Amino acid sequence: MNEWSIDGRNLTWDGGFSEVNAMGSFTSITSALGAGVMLYVSYKLLSTARLYTRSSSLHRYLHTSASGERAWALITGSSNGIGKCLAFELAGHGFNIVVHGRNADKLETVRDEIRAAYPDAEVRIIVADASQCHRREVVDFERIRNQLADLHLTVLINCAGAGPKPAFGALETYASEEILENLHLNAAFPTLLTAALMPVLKGEHNKRDTKDTSRETTTESSGTSRPRHPALIINIGSVTDEGFPLVSFYSAGKAATHALHKALAREAALDGWDGEVEIISHRVGAVTEVSHTQASPTLFRPAARTIAKAILARTGCGRNIVVPYWPHALQQGLLSLVPASILDRVINTAMREERRVQDGEAKKGL
Ligand SMILES: NC(=O)c1ccc[n+]([C@@H]2O[C@H](COP(=O)([O-])OP(=O)(O)OC[C@H]3O[C@@H](n4cnc5c(N)ncnc54)[C@H](OP(=O)(O)O)[C@@H]3O)[C@@H](O)[C@H]2O)c1
Repeated sequence: MNEWSIDGRNLTWDGGFSEVNAMGSFTSITSALGAGVMLYVSYKLLSTARLYTRSSSLHRYLHTSASGERAWALITGSSNGIGKCLAFELAGHGFNIVVHGRNADKLETVRDEIRAAYPDAEVRIIVADASQCHRREVVDFERIRNQLADLHLTVLINCAGAGPKPAFGALETYASEEILENLHLNAAFPTLLTAALMPVLKGEHNKRDTKDTSRETTTESSGTSRPRHPALIINIGSVTDEGFPLVSFYSAGKAATHALHKALAREAALDGWDGEVEIISHRVGAVTEVSHTQASPTLFRPAARTIAKAILARTGCGRNIVVPYWPHALQQGLLSLVPASILDRVINTAMREERRVQDGEAKKGL
């Protein structure tokens, strides 16, 4: 029996009352927890809604140089698919464009198409086979940097990439050269290109390299720095980066570029140039109207142009890694709620089906 006093009167209660008290405390704690969860969920929903509705800050990168030169954007892998659409979108926003690919004829066609659509846009071409980026005689990054040194380059988009052929298969079924070339294309090339162009984007190149590159006609003879900042680096990655079966090394290459760009964003903050160069890596889901499929677009498999717009719309969103297209983000959000063991089965079932379709088509000779 317990006792307490109010206004001098002794009151007593039995153990049952303390149970009620405990129940009250329990209710208060669960209510507080519930309110906390509601607040957190509301915050997440609001910040997600804001992510997909806020206006892009792409215009920040459209500044002109001191001599009044228009900003340039380099988009790797812009002879086709998402990269080509990004090139058109950026030309539409007022950028001059550097298109890149491995096929000069295709790039000349794209250049002519951009000029026809946007007569004010200047277009340059860079040809380099990204899968051979370990061979200096094939891809010379210093030469690429010097080719761009006279431009007011403010945007670099690392978009060149592809899966192997055939697209779906167990790791050991591919020749080691195929695996290596794919890793070069998807991971080594964007790493080396970004390393080569970082001084240009930070506006340090001419100041630092005038002595080394004095014989290059494209390098400014004045030796003065031409600030390009703020500058923007965009990486086009894939949602397969979390480890998808039957596209294992493509998946690994894409994961590597996310880690690279995330690390660079932290490096920027660490060394104090985060206000000068924005770095954002995109996790892209299934897309159509690209080289491997021309299927009709759906909500969850949009056209390359839709994805290109979504990618540019997320500029300045404040995240280093983002799913640019909201229906893909919804898919990812729902999948993140599924327990890991079930998720593995879901992914395996989907990928098994992809391989079955691929093998069926190969048998039919399609
Ligand atoms: N489509 C999707 O469902 C999807 C999903 C997630 C992520 N992504 C990523 O999005 C990016 C663009 O893909 P996409 O679907 O638009 O593909 P795409 O239509 O095949 O375009 C790929 C571009 O990269 C270029 N490229 C390929 N191999 C190259 C090499 N060895 N050297 C230089 N350039 C090369 C291609 O040039 P050619 O014209 O010479 O082939 C083309 O310009 C890739 O990084 C891809 O991994 C795509």
